[in-house]
Amino acid sequence: MATIVKFTVDGKARSVKVDDPAMPLLYALRDDLKMKAPHFGCGVAQCGACTVHVDGEAVRSCVLPVTAVKGKQVTTIHGLGTPQQPHPLQTAFVEEQVPQCGYCVNGWMMTAAAFLKKKPKASDGEIREALAGLKCRCGTHVSIMRAIKRAQKQMA
Ligand code: FES
Ligand code: FES
Repeated sequence: MATIVKFTVDGKARSVKVDDPAMPLLYALRDDLKMKAPHFGCGVAQCGACTVHVDGEAVRSCVLPVTAVKGKQVTTIHGLGTPQQPHPLQTAFVEEQVPQCGYCVNGWMMTAAAFLKKKPKASDGEIREALAGLKCRCGTHVSIMRAIKRAQKQMA
């Protein structure tokens, strides 16, 4: 039987009709709510392209059932900043000209944003550890790290 799951996305109350309680949050965001920034990469929690924040924690939405976010606050990269007031990471990724194809950027930015909020003075090693497992098939890892370090200076 279908159920309605209510939660907040980027500060707005949203609801989706769910036939299968195991349906991933990513499908609800992309297919039901027509949000295109959390990407489908691997679908098995291995690449990070689908990362969003749930109550401030970075999660891989391809493996999190939408029913698990009932009543919670989901933040996508759209809610991280605005064109007028971008998040320091959004600014830094532009300034360092990080994206090649751009498919992975959502994952790096959302993971780094949640991590640096908790640990603004993290060392390079701690940042690398927090980002372990994220993939960029275009090989932009050096400029990603440069952008994160640039943003960190603004966030500390
Ligand atoms: S699509 Fe979710 S981790 Fe790859
Ligand atoms: S910029 Fe293409 S996958 Fe990272």
